[in-house]
Amino acid sequence: MQDIHGLPLSTTGVAAETFNRALRAYVGYRADLAQHAKAALEADPEFAMAHCLVGYLMMLTYNRGHAGLAANAYRDAAALAVRATAREQGHVRALGRWVAGDLDAALREWEQLLAGWPADVLAMRLAHFNYFWLGRVAEMRASLDRIAPHWSEPMAAYPTLLSCQSFALEECGEYAAAERAGRLAVELDPADVWGTHAVAHVLEMQGRRDEGIAWLQGLERHWADKSGIVHHLWWHQAMFHLERREFEAVLDLYDRRFRNLASPLVVAMPDLYIDVQNAASMLFRLERQGVDVGGRWGELADKAQARVGDCLSAFTLPHWMMALAASGREAAAAAMLAAMKDNPLPRIREVALPVCEAVMAHRRGEHELAVSRMLPVLEVLERLRELGGSHAQRDVLEQLFFDACLKAGRHADARRLLHA
Ligand SMILES: [Fe+2]
Repeated sequence: MQDIHGLPLSTTGVAAETFNRALRAYVGYRADLAQHAKAALEADPEFAMAHCLVGYLMMLTYNRGHAGLAANAYRDAAALAVRATAREQGHVRALGRWVAGDLDAALREWEQLLAGWPADVLAMRLAHFNYFWLGRVAEMRASLDRIAPHWSEPMAAYPTLLSCQSFALEECGEYAAAERAGRLAVELDPADVWGTHAVAHVLEMQGRRDEGIAWLQGLERHWADKSGIVHHLWWHQAMFHLERREFEAVLDLYDRRFRNLASPLVVAMPDLYIDVQNAASMLFRLERQGVDVGGRWGELADKAQARVGDCLSAFTLPHWMMALAASGREAAAAAMLAAMKDNPLPRIREVALPVCEAVMAHRRGEHELAVSRMLPVLEVLERLRELGGSHAQRDVLEQLFFDACLKAGRHADARRLLHA
């Protein structure tokens, strides 16, 4: 049996078929992904790659509460790996590294897989995604450049390669090339939401707000079966409205689209990292524009409180802190900071921690303190990048620093940020 790009799979008919459906759902950001992965496992409980995929999906939630399930999936995959191909064994090793908390080693495994099998869509997409959340944009781009000569249009996931390239180029500041690749991806597959997203980023970075709204609205009809990525697309749409100072439209998108607590996607996973980032950063931005956001922080603070000590998503941490700080949850905020101090990863201790302290100080009106906590992180710009996330997303933290500088009367520091 073969996967969607003709790579051998160690299983039989139905399991291979459902596994391939899962692969398509993964690259297509479809909400039915977990269902297909589970079906593959049920069809062949001895299929190591199906266990591995389930483990990957657990890890992709960046939620400590799912770590046990990921570890179980790894244990089962490792026990079955002796019957698997060398490529599949590489995936099992990568999952093992990731589960053990060593993402660097997992990335090395995926790169090794791509060196041997450049059409491995799972390795490509997982490397892309994790480079992004580690803020390693140059590596994100280089990884795709290495495999691109081996990909061509007849391949099932070719639009995904283009959309990943588009996003990597955008984050590297190559806006024209990024827009070309993203638009081509969407032309080939209008439901390619990652390409849609990459073009939205280009339009955001270039201040092309009207075009941005039209771009997203024009493609919205292709998103009915998509996962939580659509919340992030609506967040982008809200960003364009925010910049046009259309605050009612932003709040409407917040309540009905990207933070609709009644939507099945949110009900299924109410504290998904990207949703929390979308919601908290938008509330912060609205308040900075003087908009009353009502009681919207409260439910985010509840989720933040329940996730204290979970540092798997570095970029989400300042967003959790925004919610705790806005809601006056002092004890939970203190516990969160304490857990970050104990974290073994430098990007948590040396970057996320001072940024979170700055978030709290800013909310308390201790602007001098906020500036002094964030300044060392911003002085070496690469360090803020270690939190992961896009330029457009990290901007909210720069806005916080800028606001604190102005309120603390530290105009020279504010100017330095503007010139950086
Ligand atoms: Fe984005």
